[in-house]
Amino acid sequence: MERIADRILVIQLPGLPVKIQVASCRLRVTSLKKAFTVNRNLKTKNEKLQTRFILTINLIGQSVNWRIKRKKVSAILNIKVKILYKKEVVPNIYLMRLKAPEIAQETLPGQFIHIKCSKDNYPLLRRPLSIHRIDKEKGEIFILFQAVGEGTKLLAQRAVGDDLDIVGPIGNGFNIYPESKKIMIIGGGIGFAPLLALCEESIRQDKEVRVLIGVLKKELVIGEESIRSLGAKVDIATDDGSYKYMGLVTDLLERTIKKGWLADQIFACGPKPMLRKINEIVLKVNIDYQVSLEERMACGIGACLGCVCEIKTKDKKEDKVKYEFKRVCVDGPVFKASEVFWDD
Ligand code: FES
Repeated sequence: MERIADRILVIQLPGLPVKIQVASCRLRVTSLKKAFTVNRNLKTKNEKLQTRFILTINLIGQSVNWRIKRKKVSAILNIKVKILYKKEVVPNIYLMRLKAPEIAQETLPGQFIHIKCSKDNYPLLRRPLSIHRIDKEKGEIFILFQAVGEGTKLLAQRAVGDDLDIVGPIGNGFNIYPESKKIMIIGGGIGFAPLLALCEESIRQDKEVRVLIGVLKKELVIGEESIRSLGAKVDIATDDGSYKYMGLVTDLLERTIKKGWLADQIFACGPKPMLRKINEIVLKVNIDYQVSLEERMACGIGACLGCVCEIKTKDKKEDKVKYEFKRVCVDGPVFKASEVFWDD
């Protein structure tokens, strides 16, 4: 960060694409004593996938007292990617492999992409889909989705070889702590979608991983073999008892804890009642728990406020808990369970 003149401040942030900064810039100018305008005067210099940008801020008035906070900003790209593979893996749930080297390099488990589902402009809004698996070496990403609404049904009809218009990777991703040795991953239904990438990353970091999957019936079980082949243990619960444990995946969690297997961290994605129940269980044993929340999204880049949810934060001044609205798309989708307002 360099102040090159009285009224001009130049910040250089290497490796961040310009478009994203315009759309979801998380720079905040604070402590300004005078009025100011931010003139996003951006210059770029392409260095393969890395883009350097210069943000010039014109400060109005003399002797301003400024401070700029920069949060971690991930590179979000808007690109066309080719569908390399498509399969209906279980009834109405599709797996797609996409050639997206730029996104594969940047993506963290838990992030998602925003997809234009059809070739024309209908439906207008993109659909947010979790990144199911990341292959950095081949430059490929996988998505796993259920064809339920108009958008996803149209997406399911796209063919191998088609180009898809996607924006991503978006969101914050799961946070695996270096000191954690045991990881528990819990997926409910299609909520399993972002968890295979997390399982792969946890194994890559030499963690002991257990995965619990809850589905309605045997035909809907996804990923069992993939998880085992990674070296993780997997237990499955079906509501109707047609496969493995009959009951809820949260029962499996309680049983695992009773048997003495306590994770250092738990990660989960699925229906909110399941996430809430896990929270109740986890509170008793004091395990760090992160959830990936699902919300309807319109813009996917933090602009429309269509995905806000209530999150607990701490008021440092008054040392008390307060509630704040946060955008699931860019502030999440992963939150600490202790921050989520569970009582709705
Ligand atoms: Fe628009 Fe999140 S979808 S702010």
